[in-house]
Amino acid sequence: MTIQWFPGHMAKARREVSEKLKFVDIVFELIDARLPLSSRNPMLDQIVQHKPRLILLNKSDLADPIQTNLWVNYFREQGHHVLALTAKDDKSVKQIVPASKKVLADKMARDKERGLKPRAIRAMVLGIPNVGKSTLLNHLAGKKIAGTGNRPGVTKGQQWLRFGSQLELLDTPGILWPKFEDQAVGKKLALTGAIKDDLLHLDDLALYELEVFCRFYPEQLKDRYKLTNDDLFMELPELLMLISEKRGFKDDYERASEMLILELRQGKLGRYTLDRFEELNE
Ligand code: G4P
Repeated sequence: MTIQWFPGHMAKARREVSEKLKFVDIVFELIDARLPLSSRNPMLDQIVQHKPRLILLNKSDLADPIQTNLWVNYFREQGHHVLALTAKDDKSVKQIVPASKKVLADKMARDKERGLKPRAIRAMVLGIPNVGKSTLLNHLAGKKIAGTGNRPGVTKGQQWLRFGSQLELLDTPGILWPKFEDQAVGKKLALTGAIKDDLLHLDDLALYELEVFCRFYPEQLKDRYKLTNDDLFMELPELLMLISEKRGFKDDYERASEMLILELRQGKLGRYTLDRFEELNE
């Protein structure tokens, strides 16, 4: 099985994003807190270059909080500004303005010295599919600012969304593609719904899910499927068979796999992180 990365799409996305970058002060790079590495686009640094950036580890309500803390520190150590976020939650989204001001503090001070009148921060949202770009824009959008009249050059039809008086956002996010030539990355992206799961076999995905949960979240798995400690020592296909039986699917592993994946996505197995901080240098 080969999963392809689409260079054609990437080149187009890159052009579109570069075009819009000129009009903003800051980029909000959205990544999935459950996949802080796999849900990043590897070309992003090249695309964004020196434009100030705030990394938003979104869906942090679904991720393992201990791992999220480790990843936040990791990005900080790499010199990035970063925030753990839940785009669905207005209180969480409100943190974005003060965090952006921090990123742009030097620029704002310089503007002030030059006698420029303070204005709203202009931003764009960037990320791979399914990381929550539209959700974030919806939660940020108070009202649309009509047209593009006073911002020559912005793509026709492009609108700005206003969040309070301090932040304006381009209303269409930049969409980038994940890189998933690596099988494990492909499985992680498919499990969280970032790429279509028909690219992979359902039972492969479910077995991967079981492997991760047996290793890192055994209690959550035991609770959900009424398993014993001994059950967790079974070979994974056997464990899948057992769960399938317990759920009344008997030998229908396809259905059992589908159910496992769905329940994971619905959050019924509790919070989890698939990109493990401790595996960073493996
Ligand atoms: P995109 O524009 O980047 O492609 O992502 P989008 O906003 O469409 O979000 C993808 C899915 O992730 C949506 O779920 C959305 O509700 C969910 N989501 C986004 N941010 C968060 C978050 O911070 N926490 C949680 N728990 N979920 C989040 P969906 O099931 O596809 O749609 P819906 O039924 O929720 O509308």
